[in-house]
Amino acid sequence: MTSTFPEQNKQIIFKQDPGSGWVDESHMDLAFTHVPKTLKAGQVLLQNLYLSVDPYMRMRMNTVSESYFPAFQLGKPLQGAGIAKIIASENDNYKIGDIVATIIGWEEYTIVSKESPMQKINNELNFPLTHYLGILGMPGATAYHGFINIGEPKQGETVFVSGAAGAVGLVVGQLAKLKGCRVIGSAGSDEKVQALVNEFGFDAAFNYKIGNLSKKLKELCPNGIDIYFDNVGGETLDTVLLLMNTFGRLVECGMISQYNESKPYRLQNLFVIVGKQLKLQGFIISGQISDPHFMKKFFSDMSKWLNEGKFKYTQTITEGIENAPSAFIGMLKGQNTGKQIVQIIK
Ligand SMILES: NC(=O)c1ccc[n+]([C@@H]2O[C@H](COP(=O)([O-])OP(=O)(O)OC[C@H]3O[C@@H](n4cnc5c(N)ncnc54)[C@H](OP(=O)(O)O)[C@@H]3O)[C@@H](O)[C@H]2O)c1
Repeated sequence: MTSTFPEQNKQIIFKQDPGSGWVDESHMDLAFTHVPKTLKAGQVLLQNLYLSVDPYMRMRMNTVSESYFPAFQLGKPLQGAGIAKIIASENDNYKIGDIVATIIGWEEYTIVSKESPMQKINNELNFPLTHYLGILGMPGATAYHGFINIGEPKQGETVFVSGAAGAVGLVVGQLAKLKGCRVIGSAGSDEKVQALVNEFGFDAAFNYKIGNLSKKLKELCPNGIDIYFDNVGGETLDTVLLLMNTFGRLVECGMISQYNESKPYRLQNLFVIVGKQLKLQGFIISGQISDPHFMKKFFSDMSKWLNEGKFKYTQTITEGIENAPSAFIGMLKGQNTGKQIVQIIK
């Protein structure tokens, strides 16, 4: 097959550090550049198909931060996980037409060198390609590792998941059902709450933006909470601490309620972890994702459950790389259900 070198690349450039408040579109810029006409040894040229936009990217926008990821570079395209097609190759391991999962720029075309990790997607089981950025990708692996290995669920236990209608939360809820638990989810709209119960098999769900959180949780978890899968942190975590059962586990996956806050919420109820003998553990999934044994087991279990119809998954797809900033900000504000993805090229 012959290589194709497109003329122009449409990119989203990181223009300005938003500091500690809300990110908006003025912090990013649309740019048009030329794609080089030749590749160096070991490089491949990708035509980017799908880009994953994720909450952790907000932390990468703080150029002076203590985030677990390095900051994005000002003046360069933002980056993220993506699915792409190889359209030119100077690397013997990859040929034109291969579909790969790798880190791409927020742009239509990316050149990747041989040092960058890149995984071929054979997709023998014929899943939608976007699943590799969602339930079969990083968010699915996060739910699987966090809930099973850290949460250590036991049949009959009560599980509460915040951010339940998102990419990670939807998988956690269904894993909880699979393990014989009772699962309650919270989300930011009545439509999401209905979907959690009617489509995704949660036992109960509520809109955290309405009413008193403590009262609602006491009503829906009359026997207390054994596992809290925390996607949001802040006041919700503080409230849940008081409702945890002895020897309960708090899986600290993320704290999205804090990412755009200029004044972080200060916990007041942490003292209960001693008396209730709670386990509270944070984690980041990158270690597991680079472990082939973990990934093999995760992929084998999750693809089997998907094929058996035990899991449902949904996504929110925004078209066009020029709309990546609004998709990203919309996701941070709750406009997505399931995995937020940008379809770059139709
Ligand atoms: N530890 C790890 O390795 C790891 C890996 C992946 C993700 N994470 C974390 O897991 C969490 C979920 O990530 P995701 O990719 O699945 O994102 P997501 O849930 O698909 O999207 C983010 C969701 O957060 C909710 N949200 C926004 N502001 C909120 C607030 N103030 N209070 C409560 N909910 C709020 C919104 O839903 P509503 O409509 O419900 O508000 C929004 O849809 C994030 O905290 C993320 O940082 C951690």
